Amino acid sequence: MKIGIIGLGYVGLPLAVAFAEAGHEVVGLDTDPRKIEALNAGRSYVEDIPDESLAPLGGRLEATSDYERLEPCDAVIVCVPTPLTSSREPDLAYLIEASNALSKVLQKGQLVVLESTTYPGTTRERLLPILEESGMSAGDEFHLAFSPERIDPGRTDYTIRTTPKLVGGVTEACTERARDLYSLICDEVVVLSNPEAAELSKLLENIFRSVNIALVNELSQLCDRLGIDVWEVIDAAATKPFGFMRFDPGPGMGGHCLPVDPFYLAFKARELDFYPEFIELAGKVNRAQPAYCVNLVARALNDAGKAVHDAGVLVLGVSYKNGVGDTRESPALQIIRRLRDLGAEVSYHDPHVAELPEFQLSSVELPTALESADVAAIVTAHPELDYEEVVAKAPLVVDFRGVTREIRAENLVRL
Ligand SMILES: NC(=O)c1ccc[n+]([C@@H]2O[C@H](COP(=O)([O-])OP(=O)(O)OC[C@H]3O[C@@H](n4cnc5c(N)ncnc54)[C@H](O)[C@@H]3O)[C@@H](O)[C@H]2O)c1
Repeated sequence: MKIGIIGLGYVGLPLAVAFAEAGHEVVGLDTDPRKIEALNAGRSYVEDIPDESLAPLGGRLEATSDYERLEPCDAVIVCVPTPLTSSREPDLAYLIEASNALSKVLQKGQLVVLESTTYPGTTRERLLPILEESGMSAGDEFHLAFSPERIDPGRTDYTIRTTPKLVGGVTEACTERARDLYSLICDEVVVLSNPEAAELSKLLENIFRSVNIALVNELSQLCDRLGIDVWEVIDAAATKPFGFMRFDPGPGMGGHCLPVDPFYLAFKARELDFYPEFIELAGKVNRAQPAYCVNLVARALNDAGKAVHDAGVLVLGVSYKNGVGDTRESPALQIIRRLRDLGAEVSYHDPHVAELPEFQLSSVELPTALESADVAAIVTAHPELDYEEVVAKAPLVVDFRGVTREIRAENLVRL
């Protein structure tokens, strides 16, 4: 088959590679010329896709910015960003722009699938009318479905092939087409009765995580007051073989999904005069966590007889999760900003993030930076770091990830 993928980012590129690896021809479309140039030169910019995995595709993956190149495709999958506006409302501008461009080149018989995370109703209420501006009708002359992306960057135990894929089309025929498409690269395709159910399933998965992370974040604050080690409590609860699922507290939620997606549903709910309290509350608790963590750094310095002002604070890990270099919505950025506002001299070390241009900072070398800092804050626990060495070399360590919980030391403070 010939597959078009619109948006070659963290979601679109692995998907394009999966189809090309399965022997299909892929036209990858992006508005960022640097991505097109890199891919056509055999260079990847997504950590989960090494350059070596592009070479054997034998020209089956071609990148372009020209929408007309989608005309010969059997199916076109849309993977553009769905962020929030500054007032935390869904920003569908990328989706609308891509849909308008697609509508102008849409061909009879094509299948269009939206993979971008969004609120229930987007495929039918927003995408469908734009595509029908082509003069063709959905379910009849072209097919339309929603299928949420479930990728977890950095994860290797589950792949696109082994993660069940949800599909919901605007008609039964649309669903069937979508099922056939994803059967080419996924072992299991789960059929839903409409796109709205598929859209909401994805949001439920992320809201479930957000609410549970908020619960343990709040528990960590209570444990601090109670003088109980929250990590010991969670480790103990996690020994129950049923009825409990482990979530860990941390410095806050980052990435393109968890801090963003729940607000897509909250927005839709408000339109219907419904106020989903769990979602809003979880967002509020999680968004307050970086400020709480900065207070822990200030308290640790204070206990050591130092002020935050002029203190050398070394942030360990600035990406939003371990093992990846993505800094979108990373709580580390808020922590750095707040520490700077308090007058701290902030530096950082991250094996996955060489530069933080918004702070004019570059990753510093260990172990020298550990010895010269007043405090090291473990914000993102990359597996490459030796945390025993961190505790041994830094004068003071504040751990927001619980990776030092086997270590006993006077200079160590944990969330
Ligand atoms: N990153 C994840 O882990 C993840 C997981 C599941 C779902 N999602 C969802 O998938 C969607 C994409 O996320 P992502 O992380 O891949 O984003 P991304 O920013 O990495 O990639 C999106 C790409 O779309 C391109 N683009 C923007 N407008 C375009 C247009 N009009 N035409 C063509 N290309 C355009 C951008 O240049 C970019 O390369 C979002 O809705 C996100 O919520 C992301």
